[in-house]
Amino acid sequence: LSNGLGMTPPMGWNSWNHFGCKINEKVIRETADALVRTGLAKLGYHYVNIDDCWAEMHRDSKGFLVPGKSNFPSGIKALADYVHSKDLKLGIYSDAGTMTCSNKMPGSLGHEEKDAQTFADWGIDYLKYDNCNNNDLKPTVRYPPMTRALKMTGRPIFFSICEWGDMHPALWAPKLGNSWRTTDDISDKWESMISRADQNEVYADYARPGGWNDPDMLEVGNGGMTHSEYIVHFSLWAISKAPLLIGCDVRNMTKETMEILSNKEVIAVNQDPLGMQAKKVRMIGSREIWSAPLSGDRTALVLLNRQSWGKPVPIVAHWDDLGIPPKMFVEARDLWKHETLKTKFVDKIEAEVERRSCKMFILTPTFS
Ligand code: DGJ
Repeated sequence: LSNGLGMTPPMGWNSWNHFGCKINEKVIRETADALVRTGLAKLGYHYVNIDDCWAEMHRDSKGFLVPGKSNFPSGIKALADYVHSKDLKLGIYSDAGTMTCSNKMPGSLGHEEKDAQTFADWGIDYLKYDNCNNNDLKPTVRYPPMTRALKMTGRPIFFSICEWGDMHPALWAPKLGNSWRTTDDISDKWESMISRADQNEVYADYARPGGWNDPDMLEVGNGGMTHSEYIVHFSLWAISKAPLLIGCDVRNMTKETMEILSNKEVIAVNQDPLGMQAKKVRMIGSREIWSAPLSGDRTALVLLNRQSWGKPVPIVAHWDDLGIPPKMFVEARDLWKHETLKTKFVDKIEAEVERRSCKMFILTPTFS
């Protein structure tokens, strides 16, 4: 969507994966504080996004959405002011249907202009727009009115289309939104994470500055995967130019979780100005090579071993598959070890990768 937003994939936090419906203004405020305190805000995690369950079940007598009286008693405007005072941005959630997925609050179908104006008046910067209770109306009928309504407010609001990939949104959503979900909900398990990465990869050609494929939010730090599985999760999301929306409780993160989420070099791949999503350029059984061009003639590379058992396996990436000219000497930076390898590589690069693990590199041509 050409509204000037999302020139690189959005970064921030969302309440759903960890808190579900158990949200309140204190959690949101403390999360904003924690993003600043931990340094994550400085690394680019700017959006603080409230998901489902923030509003009362009924609109007021004039048809306006009402913030939950028990969980958001100070209202959303006050929260936006607080979040903005920390130099962060506030996101909110609604649904292109009659009610949201929790069935605990109204949707915006038929109320697009009123709700968009309400969000703009509150100072909202991001809207996630869900797909439940949609009366079987086509998404191409339900989503455009909100795109128009947000535009009419004159406030820049990042528009995240959450249609779960049901009707191939990559084919129609780039005109309507700044991101579109290509998959059903993620859960905090290896199979769920990796299958979402796969489903999302198919649409790589549709991602570009202003509009991104969205394989759903991060589960890093929620406890259901091993450390190396979370590294795979973060590496694949980064190289796939996916939104990096943290889904854990950032107020209580382990050092390991923080190390993953704060890896500057991996974040820089995600935020590269070229904005090209990685593709699988070679699959050899459970060994996969994911790569994407980066600005400055560089290449981002993930060597992935999906096997759940066995010894580390060698994985080889050939220049031919990566689009690097033959005979080119290349310097390789290991983004998880934070070291530039001493050898220069020509024609190919090879590394040993443990089960359910990956290595991630930036390859830079050298002319010496
Ligand atoms: C379905 C979405 O895909 C989830 O990300 C979350 O927003 C829930 N709905 C909330 O009910």
